[in-house]
Amino acid sequence: MRVFQEVGAKYPQGLLTVLEGLSVDDPARLDQEIEAFKNEHGYQSHDIVEITEGTPNEALRKFDPPHTHSEDEIRLFLHGSGIFDLLADDGIWYRFLFEKGDMVVVPAGRVHRFEPTYEKTVRCVRIFQDDEGWVPHYVDQAAHEGP
Ligand SMILES: [Fe+2]
Repeated sequence: MRVFQEVGAKYPQGLLTVLEGLSVDDPARLDQEIEAFKNEHGYQSHDIVEITEGTPNEALRKFDPPHTHSEDEIRLFLHGSGIFDLLADDGIWYRFLFEKGDMVVVPAGRVHRFEPTYEKTVRCVRIFQDDEGWVPHYVDQAAHEGP
């Protein structure tokens, strides 16, 4: 059984949780792992979100401004890579690069933003407690200006 761990001790406690190195090349095994995770942690549904070179920049703007969600934001990277910036309680932004096989859990209420890397290629599994919970709540940009 895999155990979620906080990222290194140099980061503030509670900033985010990461599970690295998941095997995502075996679809049947991946489905089993996702279902097991949902059952173990009480999540209800999942889907796949994809960003490609053809994705209009307007469509990416919903991820970019600093925002929170009323439930955890969970993304498992199947392909490509992306950057999460997270605002710690001490007001410092922390930047993380995630790529294939990484699973990130951004805690409910944590201010964050997301953007793809320059390759603009991301395919992720999103796991939800409730589809409504993933609606972004944008925060005051002036007060939370990101990197
Ligand atoms: Fe988000």
